[in-house]
Amino acid sequence: MATEKWVLMVTAQTPTNIAVIKYWGKRDEVRILPVNDSISVTLDPDHLCTVTTVAVSPAFDRDRMWLNGKEISLSGSRYQNCLREIRSRAGDVEDKEKGIKIGKEDWKKLHLHIASHNNFPTAAGLASSAAGFACLVFSLAKLMNVDEDPSHLSAIARQGSGSACRSLFGGFVKWTMGSKEDGSDSVAVQLADEKHWDDLVIIIAVVSSRQKETSSTSGMRESVETSLLLQHRAKEVVPKRILQMEEAIKNRDFASFTQLTCTDSNQFHAVCLDTSPPIFYMNDTSHRIISLVEKWNRSEGTPQVAYTFDAGPNAVLIARNRKVAVQLLQGLLYYFPPKSDTDMKSYVVGDNSILKEAG
Ligand code: ADP
Ligand code: DP6
Ligand code: CO
Repeated sequence: MATEKWVLMVTAQTPTNIAVIKYWGKRDEVRILPVNDSISVTLDPDHLCTVTTVAVSPAFDRDRMWLNGKEISLSGSRYQNCLREIRSRAGDVEDKEKGIKIGKEDWKKLHLHIASHNNFPTAAGLASSAAGFACLVFSLAKLMNVDEDPSHLSAIARQGSGSACRSLFGGFVKWTMGSKEDGSDSVAVQLADEKHWDDLVIIIAVVSSRQKETSSTSGMRESVETSLLLQHRAKEVVPKRILQMEEAIKNRDFASFTQLTCTDSNQFHAVCLDTSPPIFYMNDTSHRIISLVEKWNRSEGTPQVAYTFDAGPNAVLIARNRKVAVQLLQGLLYYFPPKSDTDMKSYVVGDNSILKEAG
């Protein structure tokens, strides 16, 4: 290692992903192992994404992190697990131009500064933890020259936030729950790449960008402890739906895709209601968006738009093609008129909200 002061840094950008068959419930809280498989679609990296810069220098006296410009603590087990796993796999790094040489063992002594920014609301049900931890693990792996394939990296990102394991791949992604106690087979796999079904257009209707009252982590813990519907869903419902969803994606069967996506989102929110005390992630605006889409799909005879809501009130709408997406945007603007028109791509839908095209 060179003795003079230097800084080496890497910046990465990672998209968020939205589950069409939801993960909700852990069988192991520490390793973050789920009670069922899940399937998601990864958004276009230029739209809803996290950008993270990781820097290493002998001048740094401790690990530090800033999220959206504010310093946050890295003492939580999720951050510590990701840092430990990546550090233990670090390789030799050489920057000839700067005259820097870092050996495998040096990484244990060197400290990191991490700055991360989400270009969309954090902790509002748009999977910021997914993009955030995937980007953290990916950027650290690049900085430390970690020689692991994306599936191994996904198992590390999973220990930051379950949904993060799916953001290391584009297109449609499945997170297999696995059966091993150590979680080594609980990894993400790509089902189809982003070109496979590129007619689809995803529109995010941000109903509220406020931070949710119940985080995904504590919400699903309460559901596991109290909801019988969750047990039934994980054992009886999701395994069949996963197979059907894989088939629908393979065949680009929009009717089946929509039926499965909408019904799974609704069942996930039903599990939240079945939790004691009940958790309300959707609000009146979310419900009105569901009614609008349901009515439209029925009046057309064949589904045009699928909807899904994560742990928050914001709608993720998947239109079958660009033409339908344009009609959908017009409909949303008519029924939920914008309160501000400063940005052509941003509209207010509910309280303090924007509407973003992301596909
Ligand atoms: P969301 O629905 O946005 O995923 P969660 O409750 O699952 O909400 O997770 C939010 C938490 O994820 C934040 O409080 C923070 O701890 C973590 N997080 C969000 N963005 C990042 C990021 N860019 N880097 C690291 N951690 C992040
Ligand atoms: C509703 O991955 O945010 O978005 O693993 O505790 O960090 P932790 O939870 P998180 O939960 C996501 C829940 C969901 C569904 C999904 O993304 O599959
Ligand atoms: Co999350």
